Amino acid sequence: MNLNLALLKGDGIGPEIVDSAIAVLDKICAKYNHTVKYNEYLAGGCAIDATGIPLPEETLKGCLESDSVLLGAVGGPKWDTLPGHLRPEKALLGVRKALGLYANIRPATLYPALSERCPLRSAKAFDIVIIRELTGGIYFGKSGREDAGEMGEAAFDTEYYTVKEIERIGRVGFETAIKRNKKLTSIDKANVLESSRLWRETMHKLAAEYPDVDYSDMLVDNAAMQLIRDPGQFDVIVTSNMFGDILSDEASQLTGSIGMLPSASLGEGTRGMYEPIHGSAPDIAGKGVANPLATILSVAMMLRYSFNLEAEAKEIENAVETALNNGHLTRDIGGELGTAAITEEILKLI
Ligand code: IPM
Ligand code: MG
Repeated sequence: MNLNLALLKGDGIGPEIVDSAIAVLDKICAKYNHTVKYNEYLAGGCAIDATGIPLPEETLKGCLESDSVLLGAVGGPKWDTLPGHLRPEKALLGVRKALGLYANIRPATLYPALSERCPLRSAKAFDIVIIRELTGGIYFGKSGREDAGEMGEAAFDTEYYTVKEIERIGRVGFETAIKRNKKLTSIDKANVLESSRLWRETMHKLAAEYPDVDYSDMLVDNAAMQLIRDPGQFDVIVTSNMFGDILSDEASQLTGSIGMLPSASLGEGTRGMYEPIHGSAPDIAGKGVANPLATILSVAMMLRYSFNLEAEAKEIENAVETALNNGHLTRDIGGELGTAAITEEILKLI
């Protein structure tokens, strides 16, 4: 198979972790006789520095012409004072929207080898998949500033969802649940928000089409608590853009480190964008100590979801698990290995 990939290495530790992940991808492709072509484009802070804008036309075009996109991370203190529409994060939001990647799959797995790293006393192992709606909700609703009279300046962002948007992400939730343990929790704030009430109504209609799935609703504040109380009660979670953003960071910490969580962003076709859920970690950028496992695991998700290469995906996931079992750990998960050394260990296992 020929894989034609767009690489958006981005800022901070982005280039280091993407280089590590493509070393792993190269090895897998060599082993299974695939060819892979990389085209690098600027996105985020590096694009702002070079062109003045976070998401140049050429980058978007490159992504649209590729089979799939691998992204490192964007952002950093250098660009923090820019106005909203010029911030590095706009690159990420722009690619997600332009490619129609409405479904963000974020698995949060506590590996047995890392159970000591989980901040919960009682957690042993858990395996949750968070399905986050990615191109709607408050991140894309109407926003702005206005004069609120004697209250001074005001700002607003709008949580806005159509039934179609809820249905399509809901289906991803149910279909994912069917392939796993047939258990789905939809998280909303239906006791307060009208958009959440529409979300819940729509989910209930879908639930009727999936009688085999053990479906339940949960309010987001309760969900934040339940994740800490007993993460093992969850299997597949489906939720809105903002709630998914917050809860996936929370879940990541339960796995020992945010440096472990990969993600896939998918739309209607096979083209997706794959990225770690963590940020650009400017404090450790360039030091060679970043944990590349989330990006390496994102490559496994790419092989599975965009190219239907299950054996290749599994081999990468197994290599990561074996490396952890053998005590090969980066600093964030209690070891001493740097980016290059952990990458070497993974390469040896393929
Ligand atoms: C994430 C990140 C992004 C998001 C930011 C950087 C725009 O936090 O992928 O979770 O909120 O989606
Ligand atoms: Mg986030």
